[in-house]
Amino acid sequence: MSEKKTHAVTLIPGDGIGPEVTDAVVRILEATGVKFAWERYSAGADAFEKYEEYIPKELYESIERTKLALKGPVTTPIGGGFTSINVTLRKKFELYVNFRPIRNLPGLETRYPGVDLIIVRENTEGEYVGLEHEVVPGVMTSLKVITEKGSTRIAKWAFEYARKHGRRKVHAIHKANIMKLSDGMFLKCARKIAESYPDITYGEHIIDNTCMQLVTNPYQYDTLLLPNLYGDIVSDLCAAFVGGLGLVPGANIGDDAAIFEAVHGSAPDIAGKDIANPTALLQSAILMLRHIDENDAADNVQAALEHVYIEKKALTRDVYGTAGTKAFADAVVAALDSAKPAAR
Ligand code: NAI
Repeated sequence: MSEKKTHAVTLIPGDGIGPEVTDAVVRILEATGVKFAWERYSAGADAFEKYEEYIPKELYESIERTKLALKGPVTTPIGGGFTSINVTLRKKFELYVNFRPIRNLPGLETRYPGVDLIIVRENTEGEYVGLEHEVVPGVMTSLKVITEKGSTRIAKWAFEYARKHGRRKVHAIHKANIMKLSDGMFLKCARKIAESYPDITYGEHIIDNTCMQLVTNPYQYDTLLLPNLYGDIVSDLCAAFVGGLGLVPGANIGDDAAIFEAVHGSAPDIAGKDIANPTALLQSAILMLRHIDENDAADNVQAALEHVYIEKKALTRDVYGTAGTKAFADAVVAALDSAKPAAR
């Protein structure tokens, strides 16, 4: 562990359950002994109240400097209002990879044990480009943009990841039977990249069939490579295999910067009640620790987290416990190596 280095990290607590889970995770990270210089900014409706901007310029400048952010969820108004903060940040910093590993935690019984899936979602294109028009009253169009450049770079990232981490298969997921040009382009690029990775089995499945196949037998897949919208939907579906949205981590990665955030949203139904599960953001933070080469700290937090799940004494409600967000964080901190007596 590079003990002396201080890592500058842009911290976006978000809203809804965001501040609660972010506080819990920051407390755990601070307890590892790794040094962080947090640059804290609000975004979305909260930021607008303060700066009259949904993403303050200071926040952009901070990420430009740190190249690294830990982010809580931000509420996006439905059917109007401002553009999604998440989508905007992903586009602005060209964070073209949305990486979401789906694995069971030890000690937590779920309907599907032993799941080990990697979701690689294209993060800047597809239906999320936000190009919508009212052609005439009562007729709306929404453009889906799929480019050769965008499809090639995400496919390359998925295959490189698979090779580096000893994964066996990559499946490209599509609807090219209907969207022949756009999803067709995504597939064409995936096939071309697959040719350079003969050590990895390449497959293709149509998105609707994929959902059925996943629920029937998730073990048949290894790494899923998906365009933006399908990746978004399939991520939530797969989160349910391992215990729900409170658990699954994510990372938005580009060539220059990375933002680590959970798959889940701001969960307004449980906000401010000290019941949200911070595990998903904590697992995202473990990905962040690995990204900055703090691997000992990452192993330490992972082991402490697993200890808390195996012990089952301080789990939150979504995973059949009774503990609050803060009590869960306390238990993880207590289970960290550094927090234990020297005799251990
Ligand atoms: P959501 O993920 O916020 O909640 C879905 C369900 O999962 C709710 O029942 C919620 O209570 C539960 N849940 C989520 N996270 C949890 C946690 N950590 N612990 C325990 N239970 C948890 O999805 P929803 O309701 O569709 O979206 C709410 C808002 O979040 C929307 O404005 C949406 O746009 C935004 N959103 C933001 C994201 C981000 O900032 N990255 C990602 C997804 C949604």
